[in-house]
Amino acid sequence: MNTETLLEVRGLKKHFPLSRGRLIRAVDDVSFRVKPREILGIVGESGCGKSTLGRLILRLVEPTAGQVFFKGEDITALDRHRLSSIRRAMQMVFQNPFGSFNPKLRIAWALMEVCRYYGMSREQGSERIAALFSDIGLSGDLLNRWPQELSGGQLQRLAITRALLSDPALLVADEPVSALDVSVQAQLLNLLSDLRKSRNLTMLFISHDMTVVEYLCDRVAVMYLGQVVETAPATELFGNTRHPYTRSLIAAVPRLDTVEARDRPAPKGEMPKAAEELPGCPFAPRCPSAQSRCLRERPPVKEIAPEHLVRCFLVS
Ligand SMILES: Nc1ncnc2c1ncn2[C@@H]1O[C@H](COP(=O)(O)OP(=O)(O)O)[C@@H](O)[C@H]1O
Ligand SMILES: [Mg+2]
Repeated sequence: MNTETLLEVRGLKKHFPLSRGRLIRAVDDVSFRVKPREILGIVGESGCGKSTLGRLILRLVEPTAGQVFFKGEDITALDRHRLSSIRRAMQMVFQNPFGSFNPKLRIAWALMEVCRYYGMSREQGSERIAALFSDIGLSGDLLNRWPQELSGGQLQRLAITRALLSDPALLVADEPVSALDVSVQAQLLNLLSDLRKSRNLTMLFISHDMTVVEYLCDRVAVMYLGQVVETAPATELFGNTRHPYTRSLIAAVPRLDTVEARDRPAPKGEMPKAAEELPGCPFAPRCPSAQSRCLRERPPVKEIAPEHLVRCFLVS
């Protein structure tokens, strides 16, 4: 494996059974690599499989097929003991800050419990918490407060603090700013960007919001119905958009500079439930440029520029 790869996902699939032998193909043959200190954005509409992908990477759900390599080690093959030691190095932050702390514990207790879990003494735990509070810009008097006394922005900073207590190499952030006000969102994004530098963090940043992804991420993977349809460095993806689905996502972003674009609809129609196996391109039924072949055959992945991969027959 390339030493410039921290995380590699190969042919990853997660199919959930439905009744009568049918399946939800939540994640359907996803492959990508993430370099150390890179922020990879995973973007797509609700239900396209982003959270399932994040949870597969931390092995919070078992894959139907495929592998996840972390620092060259296939974590899908690890036993419980080895897995728990590797979990310290991979942490997750979730969307809802209000549900992420036990309302019966003051913040200091909640954080100290995690330190104890990682085998730190009281002193070591206090030191680690104080250092992170200073990096993250949290005031020490939050430690004596109850979660329900705090704002969404404060709780999300604390959730990030908690995730960093084990000094992870990889942070999977699943819609971490989606529940916050826009002004607070920007502060959190800047914080994540600073933490990447100060703590050498690699991040998988999951979002349904193209604007946020463009602002924060180095590289972006666009998901549709369990598949990655386009991947590119962020400037390339937004400057040289090639997949019709990515185009429609970008066209749907409200722009402050043009009133008319604000009312432009998101991709026409709804993303179908990922139940049936589609023989062709998953986006073909909604694609404005689809040809008959797109409905019959699954397009291969093409590299159209360095690190710019597109799964579409119409792109050459
Ligand atoms: N535990 C589960 N059992 C059955 N279906 C699930 C489960 N988790 C997710 N799904 C389905 O998998 C698809 C992808 O879900 P999810 O990964 O949550 O998407 P996203 O995070 O992009 O909104 C959806 O159709 C969802 O209903
Ligand atoms: Mg989700």
